[in-house]
Amino acid sequence: MLTSTIELLETARINAYAIGAFNIYNLEGVKAVINAAEALQSPAMLQLHPSALTYGKSPLVALCLEAAKSSLVPISVHLDHSTSEKDIQAALAAGIKSIMADGSPLEYEKNLAFTREMTKLSHENGAVVEAEIGRISGTEDGLTVAEYEAKMTDPQQAAEFVRETNVDTLAVTIGNVHGKYRSEPKLDFPRLAAIRRLVDIPLVLHGASGLPESMISKSIQLGVCKFNVNTEVREAYLDVLKSTNSLSSPDLLDVMEKSIAAMQSVVEDKLQLFGSCGKA
Ligand code: G3H
Ligand code: 13P
Ligand code: ZN
Ligand code: NA
Repeated sequence: MLTSTIELLETARINAYAIGAFNIYNLEGVKAVINAAEALQSPAMLQLHPSALTYGKSPLVALCLEAAKSSLVPISVHLDHSTSEKDIQAALAAGIKSIMADGSPLEYEKNLAFTREMTKLSHENGAVVEAEIGRISGTEDGLTVAEYEAKMTDPQQAAEFVRETNVDTLAVTIGNVHGKYRSEPKLDFPRLAAIRRLVDIPLVLHGASGLPESMISKSIQLGVCKFNVNTEVREAYLDVLKSTNSLSSPDLLDVMEKSIAAMQSVVEDKLQLFGSCGKA
């Protein structure tokens, strides 16, 4: 059933587990996530990056919403990393009720102004908002420790940001990165604990591909109730496509079925890690 993101996250938070939010691009991705969630009796989130939204437009949104509605488990549909009002307007017009207004590439005051404005707009349209403070990136070599730490979420600033913007959930940067971790992931748990003490809304961790079980469970204990996963699911899909390259004329439906199964398996592993199985 189509469910609101905030309801999923608040329920997860009270019961000490987290919701997996998976980036999807097409029908195969949608099926992989819903199949996995239904197989494990787990809630989950379908999330569309603005580039996927631009590509698939309202038919892709309609697909996500329809799939969520007819699903046997609670599913929400979310717009990921949106840096422009135009994308947010398009998502709201298409019926998405969960928006990430991502002002994190901006300097603090501008992030605050952008997030405040986008939150007002989204709330007026009945949607909830995730924002980010600090700046998650791909793995970046060559940064000094000071430069690296400057990009992390400052707990005091996070508290002020939440008060000033009225956002519903907050994505934090504590050493998590998008894409692959080039060396052992290192998350700053004392920083996460300090944020938790000062911020009383659900916390979100991006870049969950590549995080080990111990870090996932520690993050959940410290208040994270949504993990974003893109890379590992996408790679499972690409591996299937690569493996069919050598065939002279593969059956397309067969390739699509195999892609779904490969992505579903990754999603199932993540739902187990997040502790949401059996919670639907
Ligand atoms: O969150 C950002 C986009 O979904 C890109 O993620 O680093 O896995 O390509 P990626
Ligand atoms: P990964 O690249 O680690 O899968 O993170 C995805 C993400 O945060 C999408 O918003
Ligand atoms: Zn992200
Ligand atoms: Na990652």
